[in-house]
Amino acid sequence: MVSTSPYHCLTLSLLLLPPLLFTTYFLSAFPKPPEQLFLHPSLASLPPDARSWSIYPEDFYSGGAYAEFPSGRVRYWLLGPETGKKIVLIHGLSIPAIVWKDVAPALASNGYRVLLYDLYGRGYSDAPDTIYNTSLYTTQLALLMQYLNWSRANIVGVSMGGAIAATFTAQFPHLVDEGVALIACAGLMESNDISRTAKFMSSPLVRTLASSRPVRAYLQHLTNQTVTNSKGGVDDDSAILEIVRLQSAHLPGYNHALSSSLRDGPIRGQAKAFMADGWSGKRVLIVHGTKDRTVPPKYAGRIEGMIRGEGGEGGEEKQMYGNKGRGEREERHQHVLSTTTRSETTSREKDDKGGRGVKTRKVMIQGGGHDLTISHPEDVVRMVGELVDGRGRWV
Ligand SMILES: *[C@@H]1O[C@H](CO)[C@@H](O)[C@H](O)[C@H]1NC(C)=O
Ligand SMILES: *[C@@H]1O[C@H](CO)[C@@H](O)[C@H](O)[C@H]1NC(C)=O
Ligand SMILES: *[C@@H]1O[C@H](CO)[C@@H](O)[C@H](O)[C@H]1NC(C)=O
Repeated sequence: MVSTSPYHCLTLSLLLLPPLLFTTYFLSAFPKPPEQLFLHPSLASLPPDARSWSIYPEDFYSGGAYAEFPSGRVRYWLLGPETGKKIVLIHGLSIPAIVWKDVAPALASNGYRVLLYDLYGRGYSDAPDTIYNTSLYTTQLALLMQYLNWSRANIVGVSMGGAIAATFTAQFPHLVDEGVALIACAGLMESNDISRTAKFMSSPLVRTLASSRPVRAYLQHLTNQTVTNSKGGVDDDSAILEIVRLQSAHLPGYNHALSSSLRDGPIRGQAKAFMADGWSGKRVLIVHGTKDRTVPPKYAGRIEGMIRGEGGEGGEEKQMYGNKGRGEREERHQHVLSTTTRSETTSREKDDKGGRGVKTRKVMIQGGGHDLTISHPEDVVRMVGELVDGRGRWV
């Protein structure tokens, strides 16, 4: 094959030259300059007569301010005495910090220093056009704490916020004080737990369609209709649902934030975070409603097992939830949660030291649904107070 004739040399170099040039060109050519992260506006951009301002205004809580970070502006509120023990409250997938409306002021008046904020893409925080994954959420809180000079805090999260609290504890254990509360916590959800509608809505095609102008106009039309249908006075639940609808209709980044969170966010696949070393030395409160249809109650037991280093997927859950022996077990662990709660609110608990120096307390609220911070604020306030102070059942 090796030829030394000049003719062959020429063909060989003609064959080799173009790819060589091509490679040199690509090695020396510089990529396009990086694009700026595009930020969709928040509820703050809506006109003053927009309905969102009357349901969930910017100063819904006192002590509100904005902080600017690389992924966009964040709205936060600080309540309660400055010297109080610090508590961060993290909301869930679709409802912004209004979900803590009865919990935050009560904790503040009990003497705690409470930090609330809107996650990116919700409420009054910007909606960066990016992937809503764990990193985005945990760095948002880490930056916010850094901005406020908070070196440590107790972390409380509901639903997806619980999953953020968990991944935050795994990634930044030095920023987490002793107490972590996971309320109706997501994080281990499986594909079949997520409703077909949610999956459909988060498919890339629908995502594009949902943020397109005609679809948003239609959603706006729908929200306008519900306004006219309701007779002026709105009860709490419908006000909260309306905030979800208003965000979906008026904020171009909201639907993307939700669907990206469903696909890429901490709702699923966080087993590693629950089993991380960062939990050692913490007190972990797990609260779940037995009638939670959004995050099935079976996950409370799995999460507790993983945090305690017991592997999670064990038979414990069957013991707790299987039909056999359930009544008996309930009876043994049953007690009324507080004097003010309705009598059907009872709990089954287990609180002893786990294998790695982590203390857990699991409370199943009988008949409780997913939105426990709205349906059972007094129980949440009392249990979070006991957790942070290490009193009551923690002694
Ligand atoms: C999250 O997404 C960003 C890009 O937006 C990426 O750089 C980062 O590595 C992702 N983090 C995780 C944990 O996947
Ligand atoms: C944080 O601390 C720095 C330096 O001590 C101070 O200048 C800044 O005002 C503090 N920030 C807040 C939000 O308290
Ligand atoms: C909804 O109502 C507001 C005023 O209440 C109006 O300005 C807006 O055009 C309406 N939007 C749609 C899509 O009907």
